[in-house]
Amino acid sequence: MAMVCLSDFEAYAKKHLPKIAWDFFAAGADDCSTRDENILAYKRIRFRPRMLRDVSVMDIRTKLLGTEISFPVGIAPTGFHQLAWPDGEKSTARAATAMNTCYIASTYSTCTLEEIAAAAPGGIRWFQLYIHRNRAVSQQLVQQAEALGFQGLVLTADLPYTGKRRDDIRNGFRLPPHMKLKNLEGAFEGGDCSEYGLPPNSLDPSVTWNDIYWLRSLTHLPIIVKGILTKEDAELAVRHGVQGIIVSNHGGRQLDGGPATIDALVEVVDAVQGKIEVYLDGGIRKGSDVLKALALGAKCVFIGRPALWGLAYKGEEGLQDVLRILQDEFRLSMALAGCASISEIGRHLVQFSKL
Ligand code: FNR
Repeated sequence: MAMVCLSDFEAYAKKHLPKIAWDFFAAGADDCSTRDENILAYKRIRFRPRMLRDVSVMDIRTKLLGTEISFPVGIAPTGFHQLAWPDGEKSTARAATAMNTCYIASTYSTCTLEEIAAAAPGGIRWFQLYIHRNRAVSQQLVQQAEALGFQGLVLTADLPYTGKRRDDIRNGFRLPPHMKLKNLEGAFEGGDCSEYGLPPNSLDPSVTWNDIYWLRSLTHLPIIVKGILTKEDAELAVRHGVQGIIVSNHGGRQLDGGPATIDALVEVVDAVQGKIEVYLDGGIRKGSDVLKALALGAKCVFIGRPALWGLAYKGEEGLQDVLRILQDEFRLSMALAGCASISEIGRHLVQFSKL
């Protein structure tokens, strides 16, 4: 079967993954309205393409906090990559490095941070942190990530508790016994690890903006806050000195009924007034989605589920295919909209449909 677009990888993954793994990847919270809205919202945005603008030479490179990437799409943090492919996050790291883009490795990886770093030396990598009640565990992970050469720390802010994902409950989702949350091994000794491989209530729901100062005291890495959806929180992020924001609703897996990320983006971009970089994840499935997000002010976008579908297809190679397809589609959309370089993309390129 020819793999032409990201939906082809989705169909493949749905057909070939065990149902319990597919359901875990696909899950949204409650009745999944925010998950689905992330995708539908792109369809309400239309381009205002410009013509006769010499798009014979295209430059789609951009920079993330000063580091060049080959195009403005990175890999969002998702847990449990071994559910998609035996080599798990090592394959993810290799694919991202081969495509010269950024991979945000999750706290809930099924490979250790050392293994991820060693799999693809020199890759552009950030580490995503969930703060646990056992703060020593979080501190150790942050410092280990910095020592291993990870270049950014992404604090996920939208998960004080795990959202209610009905299919995971129905399936009694658990990690298969041979898979471990390798970065947390030994951290919760003796506990009943029923909740996504962790003891229930291991996350710290008391985290506040003040904890940014705690993180700052632990590391020199730039801090990026993931899960921001409002101008109020965007302003707080700037005030607390972080270097970036990822506009995200966790792929619709947390609070159901919140906005699509593409709809929340403009409010956040306007609030930060260019003081820090703003990125977005959620619902990116085509190159033209990437162009819409950049037009509305995102510096870069990240893909969650599509990366897992790529891994499920053919590991590192499959994920590279997914990234390459998005890259080609993005380049083509840019050219057809009359932009030869990223700096030519702006709000003038889009309008919201009146339908
Ligand atoms: C996630 N996400 C996530 N986020 C995070 O900060 N840490 C994590 O460990 C995970 N784990 C995770 C697992 C799975 C299976 C999914 C689908 C998502 C959220 C992720 O980073 C991102 O916000 C969304 O996946 C983006 O939406 P799309 O691209 O999946 O539509």
